[in-house]
Amino acid sequence: MAAVLHLCLFMEVESYLPHKITHLPGQPPISFQHFSGYITVDDKEQRALFYYFAEAEIDPVLKPVVLWLNGGPGCSSVGVGAFNENGPFRPSGEMLVRNEYSWNKEANILYLEAPAGVGFSYSTDTSYYVGVDDNITARDNLVFLQRWFGKFPQYKSRDLFIAGESYAGHYVPQLAQLMIQFNEKEKLFNLKGIALGNPVLEFFTDFNSRAEYFWSHGLISDSTYHLFTSACNYSRYVSEYYRGSVSPVCSRVMNQVTRETSKFVDKYDVTLDVCISSVLSQSLLLRPQQVTERIDVCVEDETVNYLNRKDVQNALHARLIGDNKWAVCSSILDYELLDLEIPTISIVGSLVKSGIPVLVYSGDQDSVIPLTGSRRVVHGLAVALGLNTTVPYRVWFEGKQVGGWTQVYGNTLSFATVRGASHEAPFSQPERSLVLFKAFLERRPLPEAF
Ligand SMILES: *[C@@H]1O[C@H](CO)[C@@H](O)[C@H](O)[C@H]1NC(C)=O
Ligand SMILES: *[C@@H]1O[C@H](CO)[C@@H](O)[C@H](O)[C@H]1NC(C)=O
Ligand SMILES: *[C@@H]1O[C@H](CO)[C@@H](O)[C@H](O)[C@H]1NC(C)=O
Repeated sequence: MAAVLHLCLFMEVESYLPHKITHLPGQPPISFQHFSGYITVDDKEQRALFYYFAEAEIDPVLKPVVLWLNGGPGCSSVGVGAFNENGPFRPSGEMLVRNEYSWNKEANILYLEAPAGVGFSYSTDTSYYVGVDDNITARDNLVFLQRWFGKFPQYKSRDLFIAGESYAGHYVPQLAQLMIQFNEKEKLFNLKGIALGNPVLEFFTDFNSRAEYFWSHGLISDSTYHLFTSACNYSRYVSEYYRGSVSPVCSRVMNQVTRETSKFVDKYDVTLDVCISSVLSQSLLLRPQQVTERIDVCVEDETVNYLNRKDVQNALHARLIGDNKWAVCSSILDYELLDLEIPTISIVGSLVKSGIPVLVYSGDQDSVIPLTGSRRVVHGLAVALGLNTTVPYRVWFEGKQVGGWTQVYGNTLSFATVRGASHEAPFSQPERSLVLFKAFLERRPLPEAF
């Protein structure tokens, strides 16, 4: 009997121990454990998703689990989320430097590269990559999480949150909805809230707020603003583009807009300097850069170099399958891009109705999914659900400075801006973002004073 018991305990431990990271190249000393590896998500074992899990710095067993998802669709949560935004380290040359405002100060953070084809995640059957859509992604993510909890049973009963950014405005609510459906059969997911940063929630509102944002920030002229709102707006252009037939008028308007905004302005943060080497190499996505000296303007390039090192891949238990290089955003995944037009704000509404707290936050220097669109979409949802304002629009503080503005509807739906932050808020405003994150986890209003 004792022997059997011992064996069980041993097997449970063994199940996640091989994923423990002993040491990442260039890593400073740390007091927490971290893990990474693959979880297969199909029964034929052809598809496996890669994760990086950073336990909380202090008392991990008492803290919640937060799943973090980046968008794209097709961009890496490990590369962007963990190594550029809110993870414990950022690459700098051969070294990793500590992020003083890492979100694992407050929670255990699970970064998932999804769907298969993104980052180190793969499918050995490459036909999978064609036409992957929101539904497939949500299902695979659900299976991943189910099996991940099988590997880390000590985290099963912990509060669970999902947070993400950009196209994760699709991934996160869709996954949360599947979890709630799953829980009706078997209560597994202890879902306690979702947070969405500069999210795509309602295609038309989100995309068409770009024109006004460009115009009010001086990126386009009055006459171009007029064309961009009357002759061809951005949602029309994107719809035509993804259907493979851009009309002459939209093509003319977009050329004009592109000429005036210039490729030397980062659309993900209109006030920051750009990483010149990235702009000149025409990298797939121009990432945020920061003027203050403690932030590395070319951190994305550093991440690409770091994650492509063989010793780093070995330390992470990662393999490159079907691709010879790790990239920030996938070039082998052929995602169903028309899913962009699916309004996920209605799913957010059903989550709010079922009592799941929702925070929509917005880095206020982003022109890609501007705060004005997100604010309008959230307000519209509050009206549709009949939620009254419980915290009127007001500033919130981080230290002695204004960290942004916030408004709360009912007791479950919140909106907040992060002042001076890019599309990737935790990257460019790490301190303010950590205050926001902590308040979200604790379900407390953002600081009203200092
Ligand atoms: C995706 O799932 C939703 C909700 O279950 C369903 O209404 C929709 O038809 C599905 N779409 C596809 C392309 O399967
Ligand atoms: C954008 O253009 C489409 C197609 O011309 C139109 O239906 C829609 O109302 C426009 N939206 C805005 C916000 O201008
Ligand atoms: C919202 O406010 C109105 C007017 O004050 C009130 O009649 C209504 O009951 C409130 N609704 C909720 C859900 O609290």
